[in-house]
Amino acid sequence: MSRTPIIAGNWKMFKTIAEAKEFAMVVTNELQGVTGADMVVCAPFTALAALRDALTGSNLLLGAQNVHFAEEGAYTGEISPRMLTELGVRYVIIGHSERRAYFNETDETVNKKVHASLKHSLIPIICVGEDLDQREAGQTFTIVEEQTRAAIAGVAANQAAELVIAYEPIWAIGTGKSSTAQDANEVIGHIRKTLAHILDQETANRIRIQYGGSVKPDNIGEFLAQTEIDGALVGGASLVPDSYVGLVRGAV
Ligand code: G3H
Repeated sequence: MSRTPIIAGNWKMFKTIAEAKEFAMVVTNELQGVTGADMVVCAPFTALAALRDALTGSNLLLGAQNVHFAEEGAYTGEISPRMLTELGVRYVIIGHSERRAYFNETDETVNKKVHASLKHSLIPIICVGEDLDQREAGQTFTIVEEQTRAAIAGVAANQAAELVIAYEPIWAIGTGKSSTAQDANEVIGHIRKTLAHILDQETANRIRIQYGGSVKPDNIGEFLAQTEIDGALVGGASLVPDSYVGLVRGAV
């Protein structure tokens, strides 16, 4: 089955509103008319409204980096799914390893956020991946399988088909040490098998699974050439307009 690649930039805690607008001006111009991949920018909450305006009429889509699972309530500092859809956000990263490590994100909250997002027509980009100790202990398949099962527990097949999963080995994030494309392909193949067990083969074949971890314009082609890899979730290299353009061009 052919799946449309998805290139998503995760800006993390970078870029002011002015910087986001400047990025959008360059990138929308460069990527005008480019097709063949979904192009997403996951910006900090503060830049979303300005970025939505700057991306209007372009082929780039807006993403956020986190969401709360409640409809609304006394949750100081949090943002609900409805607040994001109102801003024109289409994608939301859920369970990034930095949120799991620094902000107490658990498999349980990831699952609640996935349900809440789908309910509000936000497409979750669910992050899974092992750390270095787990990798060296030969636990990679077990870890990604457990995280995937927990994240999509209770999600119906017809809704799951829209999901995006990002396989991000933690040891490859921001380190300049990417997984080999073959290794990443193998792990992603295992995630797809897991999805087929939980859901069904047809749905598993429709779900897009990205690789993330030190992806750059000069190595994205190797990853995208693999049969199981449907795109990339990119941190550092997505911040620079030329480099974001290079990532997209390397993917289409
Ligand atoms: O969400 C993106 C990942 O954390 C990858 O970051 O491309 O800077 O390694 P990186």
